[in-house]
Amino acid sequence: MSLLSMHNRYLNGAPIPSPRKPFRSKEKCLILMIFCIFILVFCGTFLYLPELRSSSGTRESFSKMYKQIQDAGPDLLIPAPPYAEESKNNIKSNNRHFNYQADEDPHLLDDRYKLMMKIDEEQQKNQKVLERPDIALKIKFSSPKSYIENYIESEVVENMIKTVPPAKSDHYPVTVGGEDNDESIRMKRLKIVEMMRHAWDNYVKYAWGMNELKPVSKKAHNNSVFGSAPLGATIVDGLDTLYIMGLHDEFKRGREWIAKHLNFDNINMHLSVFEINIRFIGGLLSCYALTGDTLFRDKAELIANKLLPAFHTPTGIPYALINVKTGSVENYNWASASSSILSEFGTLHLEFSYLSDITNNKIFKEKVQHIRKVVKEVDKPKGLYPNYMHPKTGNWGQHHISLGGLGDSFYEYLLKSWIQSGRVDKEAREMFDEAMEAVFKHMLQESPSGLLYISDMKYDKLDQKMDALACFAGGMFGLSSKTLQNEMTNKYLTVAEGIANTCHEAYNRSTAKLAPESFKFTEGNEARAIKSSDKYYILRPETVETYFTLWRLTKNPKYRKWGWEVVEALEKHCRAEAGYSGIKNVYVPNPIKDDVQQSYFLAEMLKYLYLLFSDDSLISLNEWVFNSEAHPLPIKGHNPFYRGKH
Ligand SMILES: *[C@@H]1O[C@H](CO)[C@@H](O)[C@H](O)[C@H]1NC(C)=O
Ligand SMILES: *[C@@H]1O[C@H](CO)[C@@H](O)[C@H](O)[C@H]1NC(C)=O
Repeated sequence: MSLLSMHNRYLNGAPIPSPRKPFRSKEKCLILMIFCIFILVFCGTFLYLPELRSSSGTRESFSKMYKQIQDAGPDLLIPAPPYAEESKNNIKSNNRHFNYQADEDPHLLDDRYKLMMKIDEEQQKNQKVLERPDIALKIKFSSPKSYIENYIESEVVENMIKTVPPAKSDHYPVTVGGEDNDESIRMKRLKIVEMMRHAWDNYVKYAWGMNELKPVSKKAHNNSVFGSAPLGATIVDGLDTLYIMGLHDEFKRGREWIAKHLNFDNINMHLSVFEINIRFIGGLLSCYALTGDTLFRDKAELIANKLLPAFHTPTGIPYALINVKTGSVENYNWASASSSILSEFGTLHLEFSYLSDITNNKIFKEKVQHIRKVVKEVDKPKGLYPNYMHPKTGNWGQHHISLGGLGDSFYEYLLKSWIQSGRVDKEAREMFDEAMEAVFKHMLQESPSGLLYISDMKYDKLDQKMDALACFAGGMFGLSSKTLQNEMTNKYLTVAEGIANTCHEAYNRSTAKLAPESFKFTEGNEARAIKSSDKYYILRPETVETYFTLWRLTKNPKYRKWGWEVVEALEKHCRAEAGYSGIKNVYVPNPIKDDVQQSYFLAEMLKYLYLLFSDDSLISLNEWVFNSEAHPLPIKGHNPFYRGKH
């Protein structure tokens, strides 16, 4: 399906009936007049437009004109809905930085989207049944749902946006709204929305379509993990956050960009299979689940197909990097023996198996099940999984083991694959519990002052440090303790809360109240970075992820308090004139900014903060599981938004 035809279908949709009273005779008269004028103009066009006059056959030009009328007619004939003025104003104020593409007609798109949003908003606000607008909508509004769900099975939407309806259910997930009862919490949440606007609007203004923004120098950051290709990483990564926050004008802009420009066909450079999976495929799948809009599903499949050549190895363990144009593959040259990396090839399972379920294309699930089989069967030193495995031989590289970078999300995905499958994938949970037993036995440490942490291990030597990345493990252990009763349940919860506390200490013991990239546990210097090359903070969200998850699971108010401390530190040190930046040293009062607004700041940090200050019903942990980039994916059998094909 070409981008162009998608765009046309979108533009050429049938008229949207507005929920209004039938026309009165005065209005009828007016419409008749407009119609007459239209006919006149049309005849004039026919007679005088050289393009039409010169066309050889009259029949041909008639059919051409007929088509043009068909295309334009609805928009010309249907009176503007009553709130058209208001919606136009909103568009102006919300998107003043947006540069329209010359070939777009934003107003046509805007009005339709606005109508859908308006009805959706009304629903969220009043929670009451709207009148059914005549015959066009075949479904009843029965619960507050997101905009697409209101239009399921309607001819109207089929011509504009193709959607897959959710399964029939007497309960639909809350994906927008979900305000806390407490006024002060609601104010905090509004602050997070303001931060999102600051991050997004400036990206739109200075780096639209590029991957990331440089918030100090106000231009595109084209040296990120995605290189200089304009892949719109911030758009794809930030879109579901916009949706959940109810920033639907911004969401719509992003959707349009994806429809028209997201395309990996001519990208002649090596891309990370892992990053493309968690940010792009994960982000698109999340948007698909939230809205049912098949554009997102189809783009995700398109991109996943581009990654498949990386899996053509003797073991089925994929290479880390692939040139999506030439299909050439390679591993990082710094990786032990040019191995692939555990946290990369082990962090595909959620997205790939969901993608197979919604496309009926089995290949993606086969790839990740094969990886699972390889790592399950291979010998593991002391029951631990080293960070490196060679894709040709299936041998481990150096025996470095970590719950930080290089290892982290492999373990996370074992646990979450089991959750995502509706707890059917028992093998994944067993592998998780076994691995964690070994990790607790060999790597769990307590510092002299009683801080729990999970140290990295190199062969048999612990190096008494923890990455900021490993702070996600608090949330992971929280989830594992609350989803299954077994002999490890209590230990999981203890470790979860201990790690959250340690990571909070790493934040609190810095001058900026932000954690360094990696911190040591040596006598007198606990939870602090020692080397200057470890002192930077690049907007990492893992600690906030843990605060969010543990808040939901334990309701201990300290997690909200700690989350708010992060907000204050971000505002003080990371907020730049045009977005948010990392800083180079967390131990100085006036740190220098690194001038990069990471796309995960929008995908993860701001989403987790927003949800931390929302009601538990919003993106409930009973219905959704977050991928490694904080993109919520539906839980099979527990979430009607799964929208799988069977
Ligand atoms: C990348 O950014 C630099 C400075 O921000 C600019 O000079 C350069 O032209 C950009 N390259 C591409 C391919 O956009
Ligand atoms: C955080 O640090 C401050 C000093 O900067 C200290 O007074 C406070 O007790 C610390 N809080 C925790 C929970 O460690």
